[in-house]
Amino acid sequence: MTHVLEFKVKDPALAEQGNLLIEWASAHMPVLSQIRQRFEKEKPLRGATLGACLHVTKETAVLVQALKAGGAKIALCGSNPLSTQDEVAAALAKIGVNVYAWRGETREEYYWCVNKVIDHEPVITLDDGADLVGTLHSKRTEALRAVKGGTEETTTGVVRLRAMEKAKALKYPIVAVNDAYTKYLFDNRYGTGQSTIDGILRATNVLLAGKNFVVCGYGWGGRGLAARARGMGAHVVATEVNPVRALEAVMDGFQVMSLREAARIGDIFVTVTGDTSVIRKEHMTQMKDGAVIANSGHFNVEIKIPDLDSLASSKRTLRPNLEEYRLRNGKKIYLLAEGRLVNLASAEGHPSEVMDMSFANQALCVEYLMKSKKLESKVYDVPKEIDDKVARLKLKSMGIRIDNLTLEQERYIASWEEGTV
Ligand SMILES: NC(=O)c1ccc[n+]([C@@H]2O[C@H](COP(=O)([O-])OP(=O)(O)OC[C@H]3O[C@@H](n4cnc5c(N)ncnc54)[C@H](O)[C@@H]3O)[C@@H](O)[C@H]2O)c1
Repeated sequence: MTHVLEFKVKDPALAEQGNLLIEWASAHMPVLSQIRQRFEKEKPLRGATLGACLHVTKETAVLVQALKAGGAKIALCGSNPLSTQDEVAAALAKIGVNVYAWRGETREEYYWCVNKVIDHEPVITLDDGADLVGTLHSKRTEALRAVKGGTEETTTGVVRLRAMEKAKALKYPIVAVNDAYTKYLFDNRYGTGQSTIDGILRATNVLLAGKNFVVCGYGWGGRGLAARARGMGAHVVATEVNPVRALEAVMDGFQVMSLREAARIGDIFVTVTGDTSVIRKEHMTQMKDGAVIANSGHFNVEIKIPDLDSLASSKRTLRPNLEEYRLRNGKKIYLLAEGRLVNLASAEGHPSEVMDMSFANQALCVEYLMKSKKLESKVYDVPKEIDDKVARLKLKSMGIRIDNLTLEQERYIASWEEGTV
């Protein structure tokens, strides 16, 4: 390996503040703390270089500490130009993590950081959105030789990886951490639900009670967001393209309609689809004066910002993460956090308690990949034992006991002979 730059962060002097944030997160991540303690003794990752492209938050720092305790060396970059917590990046650099991340990276700087991580020749990649994997497979193929496996954190990344697998382009095995029950049922649903509202409130401080709150996409993130917005007293409208999910939203008690209809009545719009160009010109022109639009999906393509730009006669920043667009039709539309995921750009991302489970899966899957010998270049589910283990550890940390099957019940469930009695 040639000489590699050790780190690049906004301001190394922020490390002390970062340590306090990490301490707070760690206190709410008991499962990962237990894994860290075991890793410290067993060193299952001894000597391995890990390359991570994850939101650089206080929770990610707790994961990084656990992986380091397991004996790994870590190179880290952010998985979004606006999601890095600069204090946390500084704290990680101070403990010897090769971190390349700061809030407000340009597109060019963002990929520079991704490439810096690849310079470390990682043996395992940890990705959130598949930009690291994408870069490795397109522009840095020479570094593929060193890679044994990888993990993927989010729905959008898994969708991209499955497309790569289908096209036979994927060159190493990747575990879809997103698809573990102990990830998406909690992180995508309750994490996105709460933190998206947190991001909207920090940017606007508007009252949600009585507002028409439009959720575009009733998937795991959308379900959580709709539930939490209702809890704050908003009238929630869901839009969908999938008939089953639309029906589910109806029976969950939400209004469902096309976005064209919703555009006229909505006060706040949030996209969480993983899709592109969901809110477009034809919707923007129909919106009420003062409508707020935000995105909580992975990429900033869900709101077609070039459309907003083309409709606007001027724009200005009113508060951090709040831009006012004056449209030529005389109305104003407010865009939050440049259309990037609002919960990370305008708040702190998911609460530590849910990241505890997501990142416990990450840590255990990295260990699993290091031990496994015969995996093909495919997308793998998280092994059921890991998923169950994370759930059990989480319940234990909450002081909750559950029942066990009796022998009779085990036999009964496994048999077919017994029917109507
Ligand atoms: N903000 C965060 O911290 C965070 C956390 C988890 C996931 N995500 C991201 O959020 C996005 C959604 O994730 P998910 O787990 O909810 O996915 P999901 O697949 O469960 O749900 C997405 C839903 O959007 C619907 N959809 C697609 N195109 C649409 C359109 N044009 N209009 C309306 N609905 C449409 C789909 O039918 C689906 O029901 C992904 O990009 C994911 O990576 C973000």
